[in-house]
Amino acid sequence: MPTSLSRLKLWSIGGGKGGIGKSLVTLGLGIALARLGKKVILIDGDLGGANLHTLMGVRYPHVTLEHFLTKKVTRLEDTVIETAVEGIGLICGADDLMGAANPTFAQKIRLLHQIEELPAQYVLFDQGAGTSFNTLDFFNFSGGKIALFTSQTTSLQNAYGFIKSALYRKLSRDFAKDIEILELLYRGGEAENVNHCATIQDLLDHFKDINPEKHARLTSALRDFHLFLVVNMVKNNADLKAPEIIRSVCRDFLNIQPDIMGQVLFDSGVEAAISRMVPFPLHQKKSKAMVGLNQIALQLVRQSRLPRGGWSGVQEAVEEEALPLDAIITHPSTS
Ligand SMILES: Nc1ncnc2c1ncn2[C@@H]1O[C@H](COP(=O)(O)OP(=O)(O)OP(=O)(O)O)[C@@H](O)[C@H]1O
Ligand SMILES: [Mg+2]
Repeated sequence: MPTSLSRLKLWSIGGGKGGIGKSLVTLGLGIALARLGKKVILIDGDLGGANLHTLMGVRYPHVTLEHFLTKKVTRLEDTVIETAVEGIGLICGADDLMGAANPTFAQKIRLLHQIEELPAQYVLFDQGAGTSFNTLDFFNFSGGKIALFTSQTTSLQNAYGFIKSALYRKLSRDFAKDIEILELLYRGGEAENVNHCATIQDLLDHFKDINPEKHARLTSALRDFHLFLVVNMVKNNADLKAPEIIRSVCRDFLNIQPDIMGQVLFDSGVEAAISRMVPFPLHQKKSKAMVGLNQIALQLVRQSRLPRGGWSGVQEAVEEEALPLDAIITHPSTS
């Protein structure tokens, strides 16, 4: 078991929806952290459609995460490649070959262990789109969780759906052996159910008097789910309301209190640079997007200094694998 679990090293940037800037924000945060003198490694966690390397000016990566997942390379560290972006190492994502897009639980644990050993102070994990169990697991196992979205209604819906799915996934792992909670979580929403639990609050209310111990464990699991919100492509003041909207639905329906970490302005220079395959114009002094990214990076450093459990929950998760959850429960609805 790695020893450095008390500090936050691994940060995931997720959000459910495609094209909202997860890769771009990952790269921008990497640049901001490197400028603060931190050693940074980015991982392209998009196992089906990796493209972070393209944003970083790498055309044909000779080694990718797939080599590690398929054990062609033993040490994750040996998959880190240098990029045109100074001070930042990159582990390229796999294209969907050899089943890499669907690593087994053991492969995920092996990956997480080795991430802790990587020679960097920060590892930023750029997530693929969607809410597959793999995506949710990596998000949940990351000590730092950033949910990214834009102010577009569809992006807000997807972000909420992503957060809800991640939280349900976490609870179903934390309470993997507790059939009663699993039933209420996944089937309690059905109106004909006697113990109708449509929201997490209903679940808490259900146990409050009849089982205070379960109530306390649920409350503590919810508190553990520490989430940070970032809105991207901000064009006007109205866009700045988006994190508040997400925060209030999370509070009202999921009983969690995410922190608003910051905002990134829409930057027309980004698109032009990407088409030219020039590593992101964030090096330019006038990059509008970089203003917010610098501030978020400072927050990230501050948060990382606070002692937290990191991904220590993984060990419990391994032990809790007794029930084949994916097989017996349906994916939570994202409505
Ligand atoms: N702050 C920004 N200002 C301007 N354009 C942006 C900004 N952020 C992202 N973009 C644009 O959005 C496009 C999508 O960004 P990116 O590839 O990072 O999204 P993604 O969420 O990683 O997508 P996917 O889910 O497909 O991996 C980029 O090509 C870029 O042009
Ligand atoms: Mg991406």
